[in-house]
Amino acid sequence: MKFDTPATTNPIDQLKVVGVSTSRIDGPLKTTGTAPYAYERHDVVPNQAYGYVVGAGIGKGRIASLSVAAAKAAPGVLAVVTADNAGKLGKGRLNIAKLLGGPEIDHYHQAVALVVAESFEQARAAAQLIRVEYERGEGRFDLAQAKAAMGDAADAKKEDSNVGDFAAAFAAAPVKLDETYRTPDQSHAMMEPHATVAAWEGDRLTVWTSNQMVDWTTGDLARTLGMPKEKVRLISPFVGGGFGGKLFLRADTLLAALGARAAGRPVKVALQRPLMMNNTTHRPATIQRIRIGATADGRITAIAHESWSGNLPDGKPENAVDQTRLLYAGANRLTGNRLAVLDLPEGNAMRAPGEAPGLMALEIAMDEMAERLGLDPVEFRIRNDTQVDPEKPERPFSKRQLVECLRVGAERFGWDKRNPRPGATRDGDWLVGIGMAAAFRNNLLTKSAARVRLDTRGVVTVETDMTDIGTGSYTIIAQTAAEMMGVGLDRVVVRLGDSSFPVSAGSGGQWGANNATAGVYAACVKLREAVAQRLGVNSADAQFADGQVRSGNRSVPLAQAAGGGELSAEDAIEYGDLGKRYQQSTFGGHFVEVAVDAATGETRVRRMLAVCAAGRILNPLSARSQVIGAMTMGVGAALMEELAVDTRSGFFVNHDLAGYEVPVHADIPHQEVIFLDETDPISSPMKAKGVGELGLCGVGAAVANAVYNATGVRVRDYPVTLDKLLDRLPPLA
Ligand code: MOS
Repeated sequence: MKFDTPATTNPIDQLKVVGVSTSRIDGPLKTTGTAPYAYERHDVVPNQAYGYVVGAGIGKGRIASLSVAAAKAAPGVLAVVTADNAGKLGKGRLNIAKLLGGPEIDHYHQAVALVVAESFEQARAAAQLIRVEYERGEGRFDLAQAKAAMGDAADAKKEDSNVGDFAAAFAAAPVKLDETYRTPDQSHAMMEPHATVAAWEGDRLTVWTSNQMVDWTTGDLARTLGMPKEKVRLISPFVGGGFGGKLFLRADTLLAALGARAAGRPVKVALQRPLMMNNTTHRPATIQRIRIGATADGRITAIAHESWSGNLPDGKPENAVDQTRLLYAGANRLTGNRLAVLDLPEGNAMRAPGEAPGLMALEIAMDEMAERLGLDPVEFRIRNDTQVDPEKPERPFSKRQLVECLRVGAERFGWDKRNPRPGATRDGDWLVGIGMAAAFRNNLLTKSAARVRLDTRGVVTVETDMTDIGTGSYTIIAQTAAEMMGVGLDRVVVRLGDSSFPVSAGSGGQWGANNATAGVYAACVKLREAVAQRLGVNSADAQFADGQVRSGNRSVPLAQAAGGGELSAEDAIEYGDLGKRYQQSTFGGHFVEVAVDAATGETRVRRMLAVCAAGRILNPLSARSQVIGAMTMGVGAALMEELAVDTRSGFFVNHDLAGYEVPVHADIPHQEVIFLDETDPISSPMKAKGVGELGLCGVGAAVANAVYNATGVRVRDYPVTLDKLLDRLPPLA
């Protein structure tokens, strides 16, 4: 189904099932331990051996010698895989560095060997016997240093976006800001590690793994192994968190496949937790310079946002300036991302790549600018709203309710009670403040297919390679099929995460919900036609409700259509140029109250509110869960999260869940989420958009702005830890 004109009324608009808060249909499986994660797939294939990964002990250089003899001779060892005996390996299209290093080493903890043994303990013990001698190379590990070496000549790069005359307008602006902000390297730190069980049957490979993008990863695994994609089957029905870290083929999957081939039997591999943060991908640190010029009454006339971030030579810089191209009006604009080549582990997508760190900077800058203008921060943002793409004014936003989000949020949060004077509100020894930020994240359209089947019991089965990474995909897909076919949720079976199913949009970039359900919608439209034809009714006026198909005064049970044999239909949603003619984005406002201990500088979050405008909300319950999870992640980004770089050796020092701090329940107070009533007929027949990343975008700045309001201390260097506040706090009363 080609979607290239705005959606008109369709069966989804009935909202009998879609749009209704619905508990996750996979919930009982999760809570009874019967939704197995990849490492727990003990039953899928017998005789599984265990792999243990050895990571490189240098950040850059080469292996001088690698001795595996002692490991091979250790008890229970079945095979040792290294680059020497793995055969010729290609590289996945989406991988930046090789997943099995040697002799060249591209980054710290790059895998250099897999030991396969009868038991995990034997594999781990034997791995300690592997001796690697390295020739250490010169590595570039320091972003600030790399940025300094690049100089300011970067101003006129061709990938920059230039509109009007920024320099002249900025020079002429009566009120201006020119500040630099820093965000650190961050890790996905999902609960379930990267893990795979691999089994060969002749030249066919099956992997049970944990991955967000089944089709990308199936293709990349085949490409890396130099085999036809048709001979690889990837199964990933339950994913214990991903946040972008499981978008791609990673070492667990490749090494399990290689280990299984070497050992001649199935092999399971989980990346050991202390290996994950340097072995896999992370969100790269940024240094962001923002300049804003405005008239005295607070209209932006000039805005520039430049971001420097590091990556390996084939990597891309973090797209931290994206939102600045679209969020606020202003005739003169300059934005650009700069890549500083570093030899740290590879940087890549982490929840809301681009906007998450970009808004952490931009939305502090907006707070600072409002203060310089003597304007309320909410009012300053409203004054600079735009209903068109500010770089291409002929392109309207399909829907843009940023102003409404900010107004509703201010009202519901009690913004009018905020003391605009920083450091002036006390509650005993606590300095209390509130802050806000705008939220913005683009809505991406991508083809998505599904198959739906109707059996003689009237059960509708949906099959698509879509994944559920804890987000609620199973449930919204079931809701979509139930609405379309006129049956209850108890009549719908959803099967996900298998490369033998039609290719979906997958879970990434908050595009999963809208695109994957739209693909199911398309397949259901076809199934309805097949049903109507079988029953000899006109599909245009057939009503599907209560397990019946009605046409005129005839009413037939839906199941009857399958009487002559199961009915099956497959289709994909595909998009025309609507996404080009309209700018599609999601919007929100984040409001936060914090208390900072006047003696210790400890920050506690007291209240949080998010107001979101993101098209139709398919399942308010699971959407809310997505947003509160994202808000929690935003508190981590604001106050805790940081991969500390050892700039001499080139690795992340705090590479486990003990050293990499994220919020726990006790850190998170009451959170409220409001969804504005919205449908976006430009986004898809579902009229929905994504919320899973929107919920994170802007939270960090809202917290930092609240800390400023509480203390009068402006921290532009995340995370806002107490050491950055301590010496600058107002004296104790
Ligand atoms: Mo998202 S960072 O595309 O999983």
